[in-house]
Amino acid sequence: MKAMKKRLFATTCEGEDAFLYTLSNQNGVQADITNYGGAIVNLLLPDRAGKLADVVLGYDTLAGYETDKAYFGGIIGRFANRIAHGRFTLHGVTCTLSRNNGDNSLHGGAIGFNKRLWTAKEISSNGAPALELTYLSPDAEEGYPGNLSARVVYTLTPQNELKIDYSATTDKNTVLNLTNHSYFNLAGQGEGDILGHGVTIHARHFTPVNANLIPTGEIRSVKGTPLDFSRMATIGSRISADDQQLKLAGGYDHNWIPDREGDRALVLAAEVHEPGSGRVLEVFTSQPGVQFYSGNFLDGTIRGKQGNVYQRRYGFCLETQHYPDSPNHPDFPSTELQPGQHYRETTVFRFSAR
Ligand code: GLA
Repeated sequence: MKAMKKRLFATTCEGEDAFLYTLSNQNGVQADITNYGGAIVNLLLPDRAGKLADVVLGYDTLAGYETDKAYFGGIIGRFANRIAHGRFTLHGVTCTLSRNNGDNSLHGGAIGFNKRLWTAKEISSNGAPALELTYLSPDAEEGYPGNLSARVVYTLTPQNELKIDYSATTDKNTVLNLTNHSYFNLAGQGEGDILGHGVTIHARHFTPVNANLIPTGEIRSVKGTPLDFSRMATIGSRISADDQQLKLAGGYDHNWIPDREGDRALVLAAEVHEPGSGRVLEVFTSQPGVQFYSGNFLDGTIRGKQGNVYQRRYGFCLETQHYPDSPNHPDFPSTELQPGQHYRETTVFRFSAR
């Protein structure tokens, strides 16, 4: 195991120091993670010839993350994706959330977990560098009930896996849906759009949305639609097809339901292959859903790392999660967390090249 390096990233607007932690392995894989929002800032990966490139979109400076509106690389909480009208009812109690997406609450509200300074601790598990991040979200933060104690551990394994273990407890009934919002471009950040990446999603169903990108409640088959990625297809091959769901979202921005047998087991939810470099990303998760987002809202207004301007569809996300707006859909897998229960989810990003 190589030692983890730590350096000052910068001081936040509130005058606190944020750090960058470097997790690296024998194969040249390197992840730089900041305790500001838990963002994965850089991720260096070899291509099929061993050449390294940084495959995540992001910023060179902490200030970039403090003003970011695209959620680059960060931990999303308390609730990934949208909650309709910023409102839900739990055991007869109505909770009103901060609304930051029209009438909806998106990715935790105005100041989500991606904008909080987490407490970092270098730990190691099975000989692999690991970074523990903890954050205590006070009762009523962004409208969510309960003091929530959240813990996220990033581990880089010798097998070129970046593993993310999420856990949490609460002292009041609440809802929780944590994810990571990294935008990948396996050719390298800033190296054009992601339309030529090949994608497989091992899911027969998805949750269709309305015009506000809120699930209608239906669980729909992907069969015969451009959302069918059960066989590898490039992102660009059908993205402009005449399909109502693609039109509503301006591309792919939907929750797929990975096929699974056990409830809790890690399953291979998706695979992405970039033909030029040969880089491959496989996503394994314990979660019941994965949001495949094709970077439709990127519009060239963000200047990111090394001066790169991120145009539309310059990155894609695979956000493992519970279904959006679950608290308002009793038929969806429950996102409720009660006192005494332990929230635990795991996602593994496994990288290779071929
Ligand atoms: C998720 C959402 C998108 C968008 C991005 C961030 O993927 O589903 O609609 O909000 O996050 O821009």
